[in-house]
Amino acid sequence: MEADQSQGVLDKLLAAAHHFYQGSTAMQAFAPWPDDLQPAGLLPQDIPATKIITDWQDDDSLHKAVQAACPYIHWSHGYTEAEVGRDFLDGFGYLELYGPYGLFHSAKERGFISFWRRGLDYPWHYHEAEELYAIISGTARFEAQGDTPDILRAGDTKFHQSNQQHAMQTPDDHVLAFILWRGNAITEFSRIVT
Ligand SMILES: [Fe+2]
Repeated sequence: MEADQSQGVLDKLLAAAHHFYQGSTAMQAFAPWPDDLQPAGLLPQDIPATKIITDWQDDDSLHKAVQAACPYIHWSHGYTEAEVGRDFLDGFGYLELYGPYGLFHSAKERGFISFWRRGLDYPWHYHEAEELYAIISGTARFEAQGDTPDILRAGDTKFHQSNQQHAMQTPDDHVLAFILWRGNAITEFSRIVT
């Protein structure tokens, strides 16, 4: 596919994400949609989990846009095999949709779309940025220090305070989530609790 065509697919992904955002009062209250977006021209980077994403059927339009854009997305793991293990890395991945390192550059805001396959245990981790999870499709069990564990489904959201340790499990289903960060530390990365 020519570069301008692949950018067109990523533009559709961004538009679907914006539509999802506009349907979520929690996301809109958490952070504004960035007004400084520029295509970053990141080269596609595949991960093993894209095969699972491609095969996972769901009616949500953002879910479908992620599937359509899969081959053109720069996918990341963020964590090393030493931190989370090979099995976790084979079933997990995220794309930074917009932000300092995103498919679309923004110096102001940061948004990710992350996938975990069924049967994963996302270890306790933390980051200085405040965070809002919004479930696109599937379900997951969320834990956070000081909070009651909760099962989240499509449309549900979960807020994490700055440096609040949190973890997640996917015993029953895959999960796809749109995640926003805000605050002074959005350029940083998540750290596993050791
Ligand atoms: Fe987090």
